[in-house]
Amino acid sequence: MIEIKNLTKVYKLNKKKMMELRTKETTKKAANDITLTARPGEIYGLLGPNGAGKTTTLRCVATLLTPTEGSVSVCGYDTVKQPDKVRESICFLTNEIKLDPHFSPKYLFQFFGRLHGIDEATIEARRKELFEYFDITDFENKKIEELSTGMKQKASIAVSLVHDPKVVIFDEPTNGLDIITARNVTDLLQKLRDEGKLVIISTHIMSEAEKLCDRIGIIIDGKKITEGTLPELLAETNAADLEDAFFNLYKVHHKEEK
Ligand SMILES: Nc1ncnc2c1ncn2[C@@H]1O[C@H](COP(=O)(O)OP(=O)(O)OP(=O)(O)O)[C@@H](O)[C@H]1O
Ligand SMILES: [Mg+2]
Repeated sequence: MIEIKNLTKVYKLNKKKMMELRTKETTKKAANDITLTARPGEIYGLLGPNGAGKTTTLRCVATLLTPTEGSVSVCGYDTVKQPDKVRESICFLTNEIKLDPHFSPKYLFQFFGRLHGIDEATIEARRKELFEYFDITDFENKKIEELSTGMKQKASIAVSLVHDPKVVIFDEPTNGLDIITARNVTDLLQKLRDEGKLVIISTHIMSEAEKLCDRIGIIIDGKKITEGTLPELLAETNAADLEDAFFNLYKVHHKEEK
């Protein structure tokens, strides 16, 4: 279970960032009093436009950022007080995570498996299963730098899952992937969900949220505006599809900020 309670994250802005954000403010409230609960056996999606605060929220869950206010717990462990316990329970994936280009998928899988203290037989069994799932087996001894973008991404996902985490956090899971690799990834997330794991993702792609997520939390300007299953969101906003639902909410809530 992930429990986010009144999470607020304020960044200090340097001059470059102030220019980028076209602001005179010296701080930016990237997450503003976000409260949500995500449970095992579901895919929870944070849906929002660029700069909404999705990555910030997921980084707080993954112990990579400390909340300015509020708290986050994962599997009952507080991300600030017990970060090591949280890290044992999660994997955090983004498209920016790069494996060392000089090593092979097989070597890296074994290396990280040992780092997690997993026994060799279990490492091998998991490696076989995940590499077969992702069709990496034929490339397992090639160097990462020799692999295609899709294959690199699949290898990094496989390596991230070596410790069989209960909670899978994925920032923009299909960003930059071709449709076949993207499908591979979303199928895997559904498989993990069906095995009873908690999957939480961020996305700005409406169709992805619609198809993949059991519940969706809509984030605009750092705030969670609403949350629910797709039918619940459509009923609430009187919309035919998620895109319409999103725009209906965006019109109201983005204006309020100004
Ligand atoms: N390290 C940082 N320092 C200052 N401001 C930041 C920092 N990281 C993010 N921000 C700002 O905080 C806001 C939220 O950013 P965040 O990356 O969480 O959004 P996002 O919803 O993930 O957006 P995207 O869809 O573009 O990935 C943005 O305005 C961003 O510019
Ligand atoms: Mg982001």
